[in-house]
Amino acid sequence: MDRLQGKVAVITGGADGIGNAIANGMAHEGAHVFIGDISDKKGEAFARSLRDEGLKADFVHCDVAEDGDIRNLIETAIDKGGRLDILVNNAAIAIGGFPIHDMTDEQWTRLMTVNLTSVFRGCKYALPQMIEQGGGAIINMASAQGHVGLDGWTAYAGAKGAVMSMTRQMAVEFGPRNIRVNSISPGTINTPMNEKVIADLGDHVARAWVKMHPIGRIGEPREIAEAAIYLASDAAGFTTGIDLRVDGGLTAAPRYVPDLV
Ligand SMILES: NC(=O)c1ccc[n+]([C@@H]2O[C@H](COP(=O)([O-])OP(=O)(O)OC[C@H]3O[C@@H](n4cnc5c(N)ncnc54)[C@H](O)[C@@H]3O)[C@@H](O)[C@H]2O)c1
Repeated sequence: MDRLQGKVAVITGGADGIGNAIANGMAHEGAHVFIGDISDKKGEAFARSLRDEGLKADFVHCDVAEDGDIRNLIETAIDKGGRLDILVNNAAIAIGGFPIHDMTDEQWTRLMTVNLTSVFRGCKYALPQMIEQGGGAIINMASAQGHVGLDGWTAYAGAKGAVMSMTRQMAVEFGPRNIRVNSISPGTINTPMNEKVIADLGDHVARAWVKMHPIGRIGEPREIAEAAIYLASDAAGFTTGIDLRVDGGLTAAPRYVPDLV
């Protein structure tokens, strides 16, 4: 319960889904969490509920498509928390489920701004503080989709592939500064993002998702939170530049057919 005692963490997209589970888990491990999100009501209520439990949590409005919002989120954490130990670049959107040649320039730009440029900006504002204080841990949310193909998700996969590549690069560049940079690639997780995909594309997608995971189910947000807590903690002090797949075996068997053997 004290794996992150005394640490200050910023989590983007922390009002709901995976980011919510990460912020919740990190707060329960002793971190002061700064939750950034566009969903102000949910984010405020969530931070309040953590404080009601006696934990340290603040909500800061942050649209990760806006450079100034990311800067403000990180500056607020440094001002109020006194330092910055953990940055979780988690917020992202799912635009896909159709062929890449049907994607508009506007959709492409929106996806890249929210899912990729946000990671650059988060790191840009966090790194100077981490360098100054002598260390830190950055966790970027990638995806199984950055490892294997699935019809209709070329742009999303492209952004996640770039996130993993940037992760490795920064791990090398900032390792000597004691800043560890890792990514997590979730399989399909039970979150509002996927509820929306199912609502848009149909129930058959949900059934296919279950079959795609050798473990026989989709994952829960707290299972990704556990990985994030580990990577943020001192227990992972020698771990940098990796992508941790938490995917129920999805990428171990990209074309898994449950009844084949
Ligand atoms: N759910 C999955 O199956 C899955 C699988 C692989 C990777 N991921 C990745 O995990 C991360 C979290 O996904 P999720 O499923 O929890 O998503 P979600 O849509 O369920 O929740 C995302 C959260 O981010 C917030 N958000 C959306 N746009 C934002 C913006 N512009 N600025 C700030 N906050 C914003 C939302 O309000 C919400 O609170 C994403 O990076 C996603 O790509 C998810």
